[in-house]
Amino acid sequence: MPLAGLGVPERVTSIFRPYSTPAESIHQISLLTLAICGAIFLIVAVLLFYIIIRFRTRTNDEQSEPPQIYGSNQIELAWTVFPILIVFVLILVTTRTISDVQNAIPHPESLKVTVVGHQWWWEIRYPDLGIVTANELHLPVSRRTVLKLQSADVAHSYWLPQLGGKTDLIPNRDNYMWFDPKETGVYLGNCAEYCGTQHAHMLIRAIVHPQGEFEKWVAGQQQPAVEDAQVAAGRNVFFSTSCVNCHAIRGTAAEGKFGPDLTHLMSRETLASGALKNTPETLQAWLSDPQKLKEGCLMPDMQLSQQDLAKLAAFLSTLK
Ligand code: CUA
Repeated sequence: MPLAGLGVPERVTSIFRPYSTPAESIHQISLLTLAICGAIFLIVAVLLFYIIIRFRTRTNDEQSEPPQIYGSNQIELAWTVFPILIVFVLILVTTRTISDVQNAIPHPESLKVTVVGHQWWWEIRYPDLGIVTANELHLPVSRRTVLKLQSADVAHSYWLPQLGGKTDLIPNRDNYMWFDPKETGVYLGNCAEYCGTQHAHMLIRAIVHPQGEFEKWVAGQQQPAVEDAQVAAGRNVFFSTSCVNCHAIRGTAAEGKFGPDLTHLMSRETLASGALKNTPETLQAWLSDPQKLKEGCLMPDMQLSQQDLAKLAAFLSTLK
């Protein structure tokens, strides 16, 4: 079974290794902030050590008290003016970077993707390409991608540290972020705004393909689901239970909108928004008891018999 990200390296998540223009600008602010904080820490630590050693009590002057000093205009002026200057510099640099990144969003050549945050998964739509998928964002290398961020329920936050900033998904509001991945690879991220029980299992995978490979992925995703007579029994289970109320399989009568689109389920590397590896075994375990694997998630236990579970898993496994 061909996995989506195969052939591109998985990047170790780090804010110090940016791979796009906006991530690079954010990285530079992080370095500046870190340098200022590091310098302050060093000054305080050195002074503290000096004072501890220089003014420690010695056995022969236990009785004597050091001179007591109250107030110093110079010192008080210094510790008021310097922090204000530092904060001012940080505000200037930050607002300039924010406006540079935001002003670059409108771009006619960009690939447009809509990401909708749900409790607790990501719906991913490519409106110009007619593709709907979930959780795993596929992108071409070097080309500019603009994400339109929306929420179906509560506030979430899309955070792919190596590609873009952290941008909130707010109900009834469109937010935008963009990036131009400079290298192929699998980039990991998280939902970064607490959104309920399974906030921690709202993981993000961005798969950046070489240009030709991305076109292949698009062509594959644009196909309707392939019907397979061998799995007719599992198909009947799917269409006779409430699976069909929440999930869509393009090319069939299943048009549910509440759960992830399953048309090409097996082309995804993970299940349950990155909580599980996507294999036929974990898929069956997931169908058998979603609440055990992702407590509180909105997918119910369908109370199927072992036979029906196996048939259903066999059917879903054909959705490549
Ligand atoms: Cu979605 Cu936290």
